[in-house]
Amino acid sequence: MAIQYDRRKFVQQASAGAALWGVAAALGAEPSVAPTQKDLSQPSDANRPKESGQPSERRPPALKELYRNHFLIGMAGDLPGNYSQQELALVKEHFNMVTPENCMKPALVHPSQNTWRFERPDALVKWCLENNIDVHGHTLVWHAQTNDWFFRDGDKATVIRRMEEHISTLVGRYKGKIQSWDVVNEAISDGGDAQTGRTENLRRSSWLQAVGPEFITLAFKFAHQADPQAKLYYNDYGIEAGPKHASSLVLLRRLLDQRVPIHAVGIQGHWSTRGIPYAAIDKAIGNYAALGLKVAITELDVTIRGTSGGQFGPGFGPRRAANIAPAAPEDLKAQADAYARLFAIFVEHNSVLERVTFWGLNDRRTWRFGQHPLVFDANNQPKPAFWAIVDVLRSPQPDLPPRS
Ligand code: G3I
Repeated sequence: MAIQYDRRKFVQQASAGAALWGVAAALGAEPSVAPTQKDLSQPSDANRPKESGQPSERRPPALKELYRNHFLIGMAGDLPGNYSQQELALVKEHFNMVTPENCMKPALVHPSQNTWRFERPDALVKWCLENNIDVHGHTLVWHAQTNDWFFRDGDKATVIRRMEEHISTLVGRYKGKIQSWDVVNEAISDGGDAQTGRTENLRRSSWLQAVGPEFITLAFKFAHQADPQAKLYYNDYGIEAGPKHASSLVLLRRLLDQRVPIHAVGIQGHWSTRGIPYAAIDKAIGNYAALGLKVAITELDVTIRGTSGGQFGPGFGPRRAANIAPAAPEDLKAQADAYARLFAIFVEHNSVLERVTFWGLNDRRTWRFGQHPLVFDANNQPKPAFWAIVDVLRSPQPDLPPRS
């Protein structure tokens, strides 16, 4: 059985009419009486977003307010860091949860056994607290960005002790200040087939080799001990479809059978307009919910076609920005359609979906720089994709995948 807990949703069970009223208010309509559904389902042409991606005359509603009755809206970044005042204002306006993109990963916060670098994590937590934004910790146990000292010259018991010390120190430091954690990240192998889909098909990481499959169980146990109130996630990419989804169900059933304190599954959501498995996403959320788990979309981005495949760019800055080909209008339109379809699915699952977090802030602050993956452009302006997810709450989507 999954451990039950209160969801961190601010307002629950609003009536459809109240939800529509909220949309109108967020859009700055300020009507003196509640609008009719007809008013909202037929936006005027003046209010329609321009498809070029240029700033619209329409006032952008705050995403966190718009989706307040559905789920939290998050972003990833090592805030406040070197973010501009304009970028920080954008975060405050639209997001009610922040995931540290890198600064809490083992290699950065705990580079060697006796070295902790808390400066950036502390600054992030402080900034979020001051601005009334929740924090989702990322990530405790991962095969990447984890230095070799965890495993060097250590037998199984020693490696487990190092893991426990890492988790109890980090989670304990932010107890009561960080609401949830990615406890284990990306433990399932890529690819697979019908055969591996009947197994957990765990990645041959240093953790697996040193500790065995029990490393996952222990990580959740240590995190729960360090902060019994924190919501604990298994987080992975590609687990919404195919053999990897099947393996994720095998793994999660094992953890639940062992009464591991796991509360939620994070579907990362690094997608591309070239192929999004909408029906699989819809079904996967339902499958996780059927296990008694909550779900979040934890690292959402949707790249457009026509650019290269996800490698890191040379760094932030004007030179970098100057070298990027602008997105074509038809690509922005395809991206907007993709975001709309995704959010329509997310809204359908709002009773189990805790949060939708974008992996980055804008098309400059993204690991997929040059692929224009987010809903704000490099100048912090809302793109057609932004308006598409605004409009999802205003009209039903005609071509949703079947719910089978
Ligand atoms: O900190 C150094 C800096 O000192 C140096 O000047 C700079 C030079 O390029 O590199 C900096 O480190 C980079 C780090 O991001 C911080 O910017 C690393 O090279 C770079 O590899 C690292 O990439 C991060 C990547 O995880 C590492 O695997 C991305 O920013 C981050 O967005 C990405 O996030 C992951 C999630 O954690 C897990 N899921 C997949 C997702 C995308 O890969």
